[in-house]
Amino acid sequence: MPLHLGAAWYPEHWPETRWGEDVKLMRDAGLTVVRVGEFAWSSLEPREGAFNLGWLERAIALAADHGLAVVIGTPTAAPPAWMTQAYPDVLAVNADGRPATHGTRCHYDVTSERYLAFCRRIAEKLAICFGHDAHVIGWQIDNEYNTVSYSEDARRAFQNWLRQRYGSLDALNAAWATAYWSQTYSDWTQIPLPIQGTHGFGQPHNPALRLKWRQFITEAYRRFQLNQIEVIRANATPSQWITHNFMGFFDGFDHYVLSADLDFASWDQYYPAGHLDFAHDSAGHDLTRGFKRKNFWLIETQPGSVNWAPINSAQDRGETRAAAWNAVAHGAEAVCYWQWRNALNGQEQYHGSLIAPDGDPRPIYAEISRTGREFRQAGHLFDDTSVEASVAVLHSYEDRWALDFQRHHADFDPLQYLVSFYRPLSRRNIAVDVLSTRAMLDGYKLVIAAPHILDEAIANELIRFVEGGGHLVLGVRSGMKTPDNALRPQRQPALLQAIAGAHVEEYYALREPVDIKSMIRSNETGKRPKLLPAGTAHTWAEWLVPRRDTAVLARYGASNGWLDGQAAITMHTHSPSGGTAYMVGAWLDDALQDSLIGWIVAQAGVEPVLPGLPASVHVMRRGQAYILINNAEPKSVTLPWRAKDHLSGKTARRFMLEPWDVVVATRV
Ligand code: GAL
Repeated sequence: MPLHLGAAWYPEHWPETRWGEDVKLMRDAGLTVVRVGEFAWSSLEPREGAFNLGWLERAIALAADHGLAVVIGTPTAAPPAWMTQAYPDVLAVNADGRPATHGTRCHYDVTSERYLAFCRRIAEKLAICFGHDAHVIGWQIDNEYNTVSYSEDARRAFQNWLRQRYGSLDALNAAWATAYWSQTYSDWTQIPLPIQGTHGFGQPHNPALRLKWRQFITEAYRRFQLNQIEVIRANATPSQWITHNFMGFFDGFDHYVLSADLDFASWDQYYPAGHLDFAHDSAGHDLTRGFKRKNFWLIETQPGSVNWAPINSAQDRGETRAAAWNAVAHGAEAVCYWQWRNALNGQEQYHGSLIAPDGDPRPIYAEISRTGREFRQAGHLFDDTSVEASVAVLHSYEDRWALDFQRHHADFDPLQYLVSFYRPLSRRNIAVDVLSTRAMLDGYKLVIAAPHILDEAIANELIRFVEGGGHLVLGVRSGMKTPDNALRPQRQPALLQAIAGAHVEEYYALREPVDIKSMIRSNETGKRPKLLPAGTAHTWAEWLVPRRDTAVLARYGASNGWLDGQAAITMHTHSPSGGTAYMVGAWLDDALQDSLIGWIVAQAGVEPVLPGLPASVHVMRRGQAYILINNAEPKSVTLPWRAKDHLSGKTARRFMLEPWDVVVATRV
């Protein structure tokens, strides 16, 4: 696949006489792809059963004439007014029982059979019309799935789904411990929808019910997506691929499950906080690459600014280009801007775009055009390449849901906890795969996991990994729960106790940080070993009990009496493989976490992509190409060898990187 640069184009927002200026400017900017059609239902089917695809045919032909490939987004995130008026049962119902109002988007009920029939029909019409169009390279189903509906359709479907899953109410009652608070069900129709939180009635719903509801939402979206995939696959040539634009770490459903039916995953990355943060933003790329363990499309990103942040500041000059290259560095096959040109009215008037309402380029157009030239110039370096990582950070939606339902400490944000492991790796320019806790782990040197929900399949793979010589870091709250979100009848980390060589005697939510003294001597090459600095635990601390053959790497200082002097971090080495399991029993402060991860990385023999770069310079490798990206300060970088920069054409060992500068280097 070539490296694509693209934009979301909404020809239906403008008279046809204006389309010519759009596509000409797209071509001049070096765009190679446009996405069309998502949200255009009222233009494609203005009245029930009356289709009007002619304008889209003409728009696609015009784009093709200017050398642009086309991705069609199915319009199903925006059901038209004729439909919601005639069939209000297609509307999503909120937790209070009120149906959505027409006039926004994503207002559909994903469990409505009627809605699915409408979606299937419009997707089929599009596939029949464009499924063999050589200029259409792929399809995006819907747009950013997100709405949850508490309708009667949803209730019935959920109850049926539970019946299929558990087979009998006895099984469900036992797994959910429903005798607790007299929840015992004697009829499937008694099972409620877990109306989030308290809603005036004081207490949340059963954690098993809540977890199953999220899994059900996942299955509902999977069905919704498959409903369209089936008709597209049946009518389109096999070379047209199918994707969906996910939203990074959004946790409304299990993205691993939905990705299974796609050719590849895509995502929409925005920078509402203003600037590119290598650790935070790269984690989203690595996550999306992990959905299918495959490169992805960055199918939407901002051309400068968004319109929905508290302050919609623009990225710095050069930063939009840097962000595009960072996506490529982490496995993007395409970078597409949202959007090409604003509609004159509608909810997103202020959003960044390449073209202003007068049809002329905005200032960002020149920067994006530069990226377009560079993609053409250097894109071939990335053909058939991806990121090669020897570290995996494991991630699970079920764990995040379960932890969020019962944080036990208001600040225990499972996503922030995961990022606390990712950040020290990113800071060291170590390539990371973010993978499902259910992934096979062959080939990794270091795996970082905190599998809160643990079953035998997950445990066995982690055990196999350590027995095979791998280094495993186990975070807090590992091994607490079963797949029904019930407590496991063992101490943490339950099925992993033997491999960890330790167990958790007790856990504590911390109001105040607790001192931690490490016994670890630094292992940086070329430096004299010295004790890693002391630090603190915050938010969460576990009292670890090591086995005799397990080393204690750090202990708690004086705190609540219970934790005083107890083991906080342990290390157990498996013989004969040398595989090692570290239990990190506390959420460590940033500095201690950073030095601990640095130490473990060296123990595991993990190397950075390039050593010795200034802290502000981020580097990733794809194939033979090293992509170096600077942040806001100018920096001089010396590479270990002479290299050619494929963007500037310069060959040297030393490169001067201006703020947000990019070098794409291969060794000469
Ligand atoms: C995305 C959405 C786009 C557009 C964009 C604005 O979430 O998919 O349609 O609204 O946000 O930033």
